[in-house]
Amino acid sequence: MNIAIDGPSGAGKSSIAKLLAKKLNYVHLDTGSMYRCVAYKAILNGIALDDEAALCQMIDDTEITFDSNENVYLDGEDVKNNIRTNEISLAASKVSSLAKVRAKLVARQQDMAKDISVIMDGRDIGTVVLKDAHVKIFLTATSLERAKRRYKQNLENGIISDLDQLQAEIDKRDYQDTHRAASPLKKAEDAIEIDSSTMSIDEVVDTILSIIKKKENAHD
Ligand code: DC
Repeated sequence: MNIAIDGPSGAGKSSIAKLLAKKLNYVHLDTGSMYRCVAYKAILNGIALDDEAALCQMIDDTEITFDSNENVYLDGEDVKNNIRTNEISLAASKVSSLAKVRAKLVARQQDMAKDISVIMDGRDIGTVVLKDAHVKIFLTATSLERAKRRYKQNLENGIISDLDQLQAEIDKRDYQDTHRAASPLKKAEDAIEIDSSTMSIDEVVDTILSIIKKKENAHD
């Protein structure tokens, strides 16, 4: 059984997928972190973020692995924190618009999902990577709500941000993700949409768990 969770930035996909994976004993694959690793390594190596050929060559020479504690290893080095900066978010968005870069990472993601039960989160999981996933969720929230969540998260880390600016950044990334030519973010026809704007994390997890249960019962 594979579970696909797609949706815009900041909708809580990774946190929800992580909790579900623990409860269900599945492997969680956060595909966004793979695009982030590519962007991070490109910057370290002085490769332009729009040089598709050089990026593809670099990817062929790059190992990206995960462990069960949500750590991300780039060529053996734990980069979990390095890839979460604002600079890398923007750079990841750029490299993820390149069709050949996507093709290489999609192939790896499909390979990782082979023979095991995975919960994969990203933008194109239900539409491209795991087209035949048993359960597909499209997780959304209004951009204001997502900005508020980011604001709170920043505050917890001692950073005071500008809510309007956060919302503008989120709107910009949404636009980029939904308007790119290569695999734009969109809800798969057979995905179930959950608007988490007024829901707690636990409520979203419980909703998805009941969707999975229903699906399992339908299979029995
Ligand atoms: O989910 P995230 O913010 O870590 O993703 C980083 C970037 O990668 C974001 O701009 C969207 C892109 N991405 C993608 O295009 N396809 C995926 N499957 C996952 C992420």
